[in-house]
Amino acid sequence: SQSKLTDRFGRTVNYVRLSVTDRCDFRCVYCMAEEMTFLPRQQVLTLEEIARVAKTFVSLGTEKIRLTGGEPLVRKDILELVKEIGTYGLRDFAMTTNGSQLPTMADPLRKAGLKRLNISLDSLDPDKFASITRTGKLSRVLDGIDAAKDAGFEGIKLNTVVMKGGNDHEVPDLVEFARKKGVDITFIEEMPLGEISEHDRGQALCTSDEVRDIISQRHELVATTEDSGGPARYYRMPDSSIKVGFISPHSHNFCSTCNRVRVTVEGRLLLCLGNEHSVDLRRVLRGHPVTDDKLRQAIIDSMDLKPEKHHFSSEGDVQILRFMNMTGG
Ligand code: GTP
Ligand code: 5AD
Ligand code: SF4
Repeated sequence: SQSKLTDRFGRTVNYVRLSVTDRCDFRCVYCMAEEMTFLPRQQVLTLEEIARVAKTFVSLGTEKIRLTGGEPLVRKDILELVKEIGTYGLRDFAMTTNGSQLPTMADPLRKAGLKRLNISLDSLDPDKFASITRTGKLSRVLDGIDAAKDAGFEGIKLNTVVMKGGNDHEVPDLVEFARKKGVDITFIEEMPLGEISEHDRGQALCTSDEVRDIISQRHELVATTEDSGGPARYYRMPDSSIKVGFISPHSHNFCSTCNRVRVTVEGRLLLCLGNEHSVDLRRVLRGHPVTDDKLRQAIIDSMDLKPEKHHFSSEGDVQILRFMNMTGG
């Protein structure tokens, strides 16, 4: 079905990222402050409300839905939502997760209809992993990756946020790990969302060009021409089936081909990760009477608010005060 959502810059929106919780069992240094307060229950969309939003987007031509968090797998009854959205006939249905619950959840998620998983993995060193995630345990996530492989997902991708002097020395090991497991891996430049006092982003920025140079010393990287439909630029290696991706909001702006919007767990439809423009869908969902038409119209009208681009600076200056866990990235 043709998407009915087009913005002022001629971009078509056919991809929706739904954050299902602001909570997480990790406290990654680049995402959250050590002490966080989470949203009270009444402010959070119910699973029924989230499904209704998803279904409405599908009726407007959305072909791809990704569930995010916080950590989506800490939301109670998440499998019910996955099952429901799994019936909408999407071309792609994915989740971004920290992997900690995958040892038990990977198989049920696959059976519930989820097609692809992106799993965050910033280090293969247990101590380093613990210091980046603050509360995470590496062995759980490694078991989770294996469980995801066994469950037969259509695609598994690792996400690594690269920090200079943090985990940049592990780039070669992470590539070898991905090759060995037969999963794709994407290296991400850190984005300045949320003021995190103990973490200096300007210092920590490691550009995708630097990461690519590190990998090129060991493996030939061949750029693919395929349009991933997302922010990542992908490379192949002659002797492996996996892809290596780079997400470079600082060094390579991809806003001109942006095809996505986000819905926070409060029901705020965010038109851009790097801007505050939003529409309150929760107000529509909880108004009287709620009709599918009203919800559809609110979404259609929102397209006029989609900004042309983000303004992240490489100094790591924060213009966006909301934390990453509010948008799921
Ligand atoms: P696929 O392409 O479907 O595999 O997903 P993805 O890589 O877009 O999504 P994922 O949730 O794995 O996010 C990986 C990184 O990309 C995170 O750091 C996100 O914040 C970032 N990201 C995703 N979409 C956007 C976007 O529209 N703009 C920017 N600047 N970053 C994005
Ligand atoms: N900049 C870039 N990526 C981030 N992520 C979380 N916070 C940031 C940030 N500030 C990543 C996570 C996860 C994905 C959802 O977003 O590592 O892979
Ligand atoms: Fe799209 Fe906004 Fe991301 Fe830019 S920052 S690529 S406009 S979502």
